[in-house]
Amino acid sequence: MDSKQVVHMNQGEMETSYARNSSFQSAEQNRMKPLMEAAIVDVCSNISTLSCGNMVIADLGCSSGPNAVALVSIAIEATCNHFLQLQQSPPEVSLLLNDLPYNDFNRVVKSLVALRQINEPVVVAGVVPGSFYERLFPSGSVHLFCSSNSLHWLSKAPEDLRINQIPAYDIDENVRRERLPVVAEAYARQFRKDFTLFLKLRAKELVSDGRMVVSLAGRRSDELVSEISHVWGTAAQILGIMASEGMIDKAKFNSLYIPVYGPSLEELREIIQEEGSFTITEMRVHNPASGMDSAHLTPNRIANCMRAAFEPLINQHFGSSGEVMDGFVRTAEKLLSLQGSSQVNQTEKPIVMLAVSVTKASHVNCGAFSTSP
Ligand SMILES: C[S@@+](CC[C@H](N)C(=O)[O-])C[C@H]1O[C@@H](n2cnc3c(N)ncnc32)[C@H](O)[C@@H]1O
Repeated sequence: MDSKQVVHMNQGEMETSYARNSSFQSAEQNRMKPLMEAAIVDVCSNISTLSCGNMVIADLGCSSGPNAVALVSIAIEATCNHFLQLQQSPPEVSLLLNDLPYNDFNRVVKSLVALRQINEPVVVAGVVPGSFYERLFPSGSVHLFCSSNSLHWLSKAPEDLRINQIPAYDIDENVRRERLPVVAEAYARQFRKDFTLFLKLRAKELVSDGRMVVSLAGRRSDELVSEISHVWGTAAQILGIMASEGMIDKAKFNSLYIPVYGPSLEELREIIQEEGSFTITEMRVHNPASGMDSAHLTPNRIANCMRAAFEPLINQHFGSSGEVMDGFVRTAEKLLSLQGSSQVNQTEKPIVMLAVSVTKASHVNCGAFSTSP
């Protein structure tokens, strides 16, 4: 399953849209604010990186709705505050928002126009469709990259599982548990490959001393406790119940590979250090429910958030009858109620958000490089 073909969130502004079901992701963007502000101060203080008073900020995996412009808005506000304190005019700012081609860019453009009208230093605002696992920007042109809730999406599901027809999930819990180490290993390898490439590409596109602040879903622990320690765990559990109850085809369920993977903090640190283009400025582990209104943490609200993120992928794999998605939401609500919706409040929940702030290493230049192994 190639993510480029299938990955996008539910479009538009309907009840089931990502725009109306992204409170979890919005909470993470708020938690990223201190890292974003510190990165902006750093970029602005480093006069040599601000060529001719221009600053380029790009968000990767912006989706659509209010969250699409949330991080860049934080960046603009921090820039204005910084120069206000210095009693200097802020630099001209270019904002570029990226996502995969099937994203609802019509809506993103409207949000950008509104943002540009109220923020004077923004002179250019545009969208950049394409995969963040490919080159997107000219060499040495971007001052700050940011990305929230996106980098756990892989470029594709692990091919070795698909080629060897090893189902990633199974209706039978014992089989699922036994196979977990093999499945998790394959996902971990794909993530390492993708994230390494992502770092190389962004280092090439950043100015020297450029900054990057990203957050992605991850695991609290390196231990393979159970599938629910994996980002795909709950969605796979729900679909497994649906397959066992005959709501979806079992053979189709066995050939499903959800292209998401959440690393542990240590795994992420190791990949960044091994790749070598960036030095780590700060890493944080966030509880995904912290700072959230409890009204957003009911089984129904969580099920709708899952629908907004996974519906296009589920439709693509199982066919787009409304029944499958209705069944998905009903089953998700039941499962989440059984597990206790309060589970999301527990500090020890296995899924966490990992927020990382990095600086382009001084030895990395913007010269030609190859992305082949
Ligand atoms: C959960 S949304 C996050 C959106 C927004 N940043 C937020 O925090 O609410 C994940 C986004 O990442 C995008 N995405 C996934 N893989 C991508 C890739 N390879 N290149 C660009 N965008 C990607 C998806 O299309 C989706 O819009």
